[in-house]
Amino acid sequence: MKKQTLLSALIVLVFSCNDDKKAETTISKYVKEIHSYAKPNESVIKHLNLNINVDFDSKIIGGTATYTIESNDASEIVLDSKFLEIERAEADGKPTEFTLGTFDKQLGQPLKIKITEDTKQITIHYKTTDKTEALQWLSPQQTADKTHPFLFTQGQAILTRSWIPIQDSPQIRITYNATVKVPKELMAVMSAENPKQKTADGLYTFKMKQPISPYLMALAVGDLEYKAVSNRTGVYAEKSMVDKAQAEFSDMEKMVVAAENLYGAYDWEQFDVIVLPPSFPFGGMENPRLTFATPTVIAGDKSLTSLIAHELAHSWSGNLVTNATWNDFWLNEGFTVYFEIRIMEALYGKDRANMIALIGRQDLEEEVEGFKDEPDMTKLKLDLTNKNPDDGMNSIAYDKGYLFLRTLEETVGRDKFDVFLKSYFKTNAFSTVTTESFVDYLNANLLEPNSIAFNVDEWIYQPGIPENQAIIVSDKFENAQNTLHSFIDNKAVDVSKTKGWTTQEWVHFIRNFPETITTEDLKRLDIAFDLTNSNNSHIAMVWYEQTINHDYHGKNVDQKIEDFLIRVGRRWYVSTLYKAFKRNNKVDEALAIYKKARANYHSVTANTIDDMLGYKS
Ligand code: BES
Ligand code: ZN
Repeated sequence: MKKQTLLSALIVLVFSCNDDKKAETTISKYVKEIHSYAKPNESVIKHLNLNINVDFDSKIIGGTATYTIESNDASEIVLDSKFLEIERAEADGKPTEFTLGTFDKQLGQPLKIKITEDTKQITIHYKTTDKTEALQWLSPQQTADKTHPFLFTQGQAILTRSWIPIQDSPQIRITYNATVKVPKELMAVMSAENPKQKTADGLYTFKMKQPISPYLMALAVGDLEYKAVSNRTGVYAEKSMVDKAQAEFSDMEKMVVAAENLYGAYDWEQFDVIVLPPSFPFGGMENPRLTFATPTVIAGDKSLTSLIAHELAHSWSGNLVTNATWNDFWLNEGFTVYFEIRIMEALYGKDRANMIALIGRQDLEEEVEGFKDEPDMTKLKLDLTNKNPDDGMNSIAYDKGYLFLRTLEETVGRDKFDVFLKSYFKTNAFSTVTTESFVDYLNANLLEPNSIAFNVDEWIYQPGIPENQAIIVSDKFENAQNTLHSFIDNKAVDVSKTKGWTTQEWVHFIRNFPETITTEDLKRLDIAFDLTNSNNSHIAMVWYEQTINHDYHGKNVDQKIEDFLIRVGRRWYVSTLYKAFKRNNKVDEALAIYKKARANYHSVTANTIDDMLGYKS
């Protein structure tokens, strides 16, 4: 580490004497990266021109990726590639040599392309293969309308390299143009300026003029329609979903306004959401200009839309100011949860905000408990050496990150904290931040000027949850808990006590069943509230978890769980349920369902569940 810094300093010195301009743009600004083969301090991509054809018959994307590059007299440029077929390469339009290095299960292969000091542009002719991890090709049956196939990509964390050869580190930033050819019945959309209607010939062109990190490259192709919510927000979805999506997300413009009032102008012009088929492996993915979302957030009553606030918040924390490496992932997600909850507070008040925060607080408790034999995994700053970045993508980054920032806010006062955050986003816009550079910035701009002592290092570099944590309270949750106890103590359910409950109260109520709850108690609750048939995905998920925990089999709930696990691929939901089976020594039941469900899952979900259940495909 030290050596590297010294070397960097030297290089900067040499070049700043030599050629100011070059030194400024490329030299040594990139930190050590364990999840990419690229050597951006030697040669780096700056702009991508992507020209691809999406073939649903062969399930292959093929075409060319042309990069404008900058280099320091390097003789090669190294890109990441995984499960790609590289056909040929060009440097400034002329054939050039390339080699593909040894394959690594996590990282794929380094793609080394020969260049000269004068090379301005490289072109790679390539194809994806049937192993490509980023892509999920869906049959019509797996979509909402059931008439056309569908394709979507998922880049985060290190999957973009499996559909585009690229320098796949979050420190890299590129602008891009793309030309995408799809079957003419379908529409293509990207993390870019998007069409609002289908073209006659299935040819679409895209432009992303702000520089973005490679994990934010995204494409979806399907029988889509667009409906505006405001002049800069709207929804894409299949026909049968688009009106529901528009109604559910009708507060989107208000969310953007609230976010801008908090931390500065929205820098991406348009904020749209595409509602994907239910196998989408995440709740949401913050692809710039076009958030990808699961249809499971469409509850019919806007009760799960904090997810939209979350993905919107990433337009600042993540997309504008980006974690430099996946060890710094908490900088993306912790800040985003904090910002999400501030947006929710601005729109719906403190009660709602604190309930969301408390649900995360309980997730954190469970995550810390789950890592009791691996305390290092409960640090904010991670060391993911030899690990897949996915291993660090859990509640610690989100909810411990949140709790840290909320505790800071309460310590310094909201006014000062907001001024600080606004300047943090502005100062670091369109660049990357390491945990260490954040700590420096925090000390210099918030703690030292205000003479505030705060145990920053303990929060960030030590396991567990420090003593000085903010205490979050919710009267509504206390009431829900009292109601729960009175139902159980009285062996009777007074339905009037739950009148007007929000989704968050229900979730809290269900998640906090005592260990000793009986199947009779569960039956009474199910009869009173029909929880087994809840149409709210979050309520259903936590209820299913409890029925697995406590051996309740009423109302055909087992079938419901199986249907849910086959239809929905959202990793957080399905892993919660498979984990519950496993914890309760019901791995065989889990495997029986998983065998039927697995083909419907995107690779990121399938990989997680394979590991969890010890499943070998
Ligand atoms: N960026 C994440 C999704 C992600 C994380 C993809 C890690 C790949 C690797 C996204 O912003 C997110 O956090 N989604 C959450 C929703 C949120 C409300 C907590 C999800 O998918 O559940
Ligand atoms: Zn997020």
